[in-house]
Amino acid sequence: MGKLTTCINNKDTKTNPIWLMRQAGRYLPEFRDIRKKNQNFIDLCLNETLSSEITLQPIRRFDFDAAIIFSDILIPPYGLGQKVEFKKNFGPLLGDLELNKISSIKEDQFTNKLMAVYNSIKIVSQNKLLKDKDTIGFVGAPWTVLVYMLNKQSPKKDFNISIFEDQNQIDKIFNILDKFLKIHIKNQIDNGATIIQIFDSWAGLVDEKNINKYIYNPTSSLVKFTKSLKVPVICFPRNIKNYKNYVDNVKPDVVNIDYEVDPRKIASEINIPIQGGLDPKILLTDKEKIRNNALNYLNIFKDHTYIFNLGHGVLPETDPTNVEYLVKTVKEF
Ligand code: CP3
Repeated sequence: MGKLTTCINNKDTKTNPIWLMRQAGRYLPEFRDIRKKNQNFIDLCLNETLSSEITLQPIRRFDFDAAIIFSDILIPPYGLGQKVEFKKNFGPLLGDLELNKISSIKEDQFTNKLMAVYNSIKIVSQNKLLKDKDTIGFVGAPWTVLVYMLNKQSPKKDFNISIFEDQNQIDKIFNILDKFLKIHIKNQIDNGATIIQIFDSWAGLVDEKNINKYIYNPTSSLVKFTKSLKVPVICFPRNIKNYKNYVDNVKPDVVNIDYEVDPRKIASEINIPIQGGLDPKILLTDKEKIRNNALNYLNIFKDHTYIFNLGHGVLPETDPTNVEYLVKTVKEF
């Protein structure tokens, strides 16, 4: 067990553990070295030797309090048999969704196909670098995974609303995802994950009228399941309009906030542990701005259990020395 779990379980308001979303990634030269020689991103995620090494790189360099496993939220659709590729300068590109095909996948087939991810978690969590640190496993929330499966690319690029007309199809996909995302969560926990984070990157696309159906209900099912396994669960409903309603309905142990929401409003409305918030673009500026902005979040949440993190992932153009400075600022607070 690590600092994050201890803090969450004891409702500790004095310590501020730190890790960053996308802490393992393109801003690190040691990652780019490996990536250059491994052009296929899925193959890299499914190479337990390399994915465990990539997961440990930022721990070695910055002594973060948690490691997040190097994988992707689109690994479960791949495990279900949908084609998933990552194209350079484009992002994810999925093949057509064949509902009959993904409906026939058995639990064993799915688990065996993704075994390297679970082996990687085992390697990471048993490494002596992880002594007193948490290993974070993760899934995409059903809504966000469904958006990629149907839209086949990031909705930021092109979002085809008509895919949501077939309610029967949507219900079927949600059912399949509920089953297999739970299997993916359990497999990660069985192999050493001490925390689960649920990324709902496209929660902001859903309007009030559909929020129960698409966000609250499917996510709370995963939250309840994770809690039943006695592991804390962090939810990140990025750009959701009302974090307070989200927390009241979904009941995660921790909520990660994005950088557009006012942290003071969050601190006054929400009583559960909070994670994140800082705009990743701040890491592209200078030491003084980094320090002032980080201290601002730490001060606003000084009476909360607060896990330091960003309001979205580390940007590829980030200078690693700025990350080092951020960690130092937070640890000295
Ligand atoms: O360090 C970590 O945070 C752990 C690994 C991780 C990755 N993706 C690795 C990755 C995690 C937790 C994710 C989550 C993820 N993946 C999300 C949710 C968080 C978010 O960003 O909103 C989403 C939406 C995805 C889907 C995805 N994967 C996209 C849209 C892209 C392309 C755009 C981008 O940011 O590069 C990816 C690729 C991806 N996933 C990379 C990494 C390190 C870049 C791969 C490369 O080297 O080209």
